[in-house]
Amino acid sequence: MADLPTVLITGCSSGFGLDTAHFFLEKGWKVIATMRTPRTDQLPTSDNLHVLALDVTDADSIARCIEAAGPIDALVNNAGIGLLAPVEGLDLASAREIFETNTLGTIAMTQAVLPQFRERRGGVVVNVTSTVTLKSLPLLSVYTASKAAVNAFTESLALELEPFDVRVRLVLPGRAPDTAFGDNARRLMAAPIPQAYVDFRDQVFASVGATDSPLTHARDVAEAVWQAVTDPAAPMRLAAGADAVALSESLSHP
Ligand SMILES: NC(=O)c1ccc[n+]([C@@H]2O[C@H](COP(=O)([O-])OP(=O)(O)OC[C@H]3O[C@@H](n4cnc5c(N)ncnc54)[C@H](OP(=O)(O)O)[C@@H]3O)[C@@H](O)[C@H]2O)c1
Repeated sequence: MADLPTVLITGCSSGFGLDTAHFFLEKGWKVIATMRTPRTDQLPTSDNLHVLALDVTDADSIARCIEAAGPIDALVNNAGIGLLAPVEGLDLASAREIFETNTLGTIAMTQAVLPQFRERRGGVVVNVTSTVTLKSLPLLSVYTASKAAVNAFTESLALELEPFDVRVRLVLPGRAPDTAFGDNARRLMAAPIPQAYVDFRDQVFASVGATDSPLTHARDVAEAVWQAVTDPAAPMRLAAGADAVALSESLSHP
């Protein structure tokens, strides 16, 4: 068992992962902040911080990272990429990349920590998905499918891990335009789309930026992840962000 409680977070180079790393450090946890290209300049200097290289789509990278991390108490599967595009004409390689990262990356990381969690009869896995899995939005079919699969994976996994006292939880953030998510998604969205969808795509892009409804901030996600990790009574699904909370309440009290 680690001296301090230890959390390993994926995708800490920006956005929710970076803020969650800050949050757990502030709370006195040991943090293994992982990212594809390790950098320490955005995080405080601390004996409790360890930055490790991790690509969640690469089995060798996962094995090296878990070996170097040592015992951990919580895994936060946060790394993810977005894709806003019509399905017709979509290069299947892009769809595979989304699923490899968002879905299979989450499954692979979970597999990698389960032996130590099961043997120790403790530990928490928190999977970050999205409120788009609660209310569908256009042009997000592949991304939504990749995250809805994680919801289903997590809720079934919870049942098979209950006998070993290992918990799994979901955090569902709302829309957070302040992170690097949109910019990171653009690489996969650079390919031309079928002409028939161009006007519709442009309308969707314009409407996404035009709304003045509440948003999600990285701190909201960090707080929800904290609750999921530290509160054994936390519900299976935690909405993160004002828009996410409002949506989840409207769906539970229509
Ligand atoms: N922003 C939103 O509106 C929003 C809403 C709901 C849910 N989410 C979800 O929240 C999570 C965090 O998103 P964010 O908004 O914080 O976006 P972000 O700023 O783009 O952060 C995503 C992180 O994932 C990492 N990543 C991507 N591919 C990876 C891989 N193969 N292996 C390891 N790390 C990888 C990125 O690292 P690199 O620097 O290496 O690319 C980056 O650190 C994602 O799962 C996303 O789907 C986002």
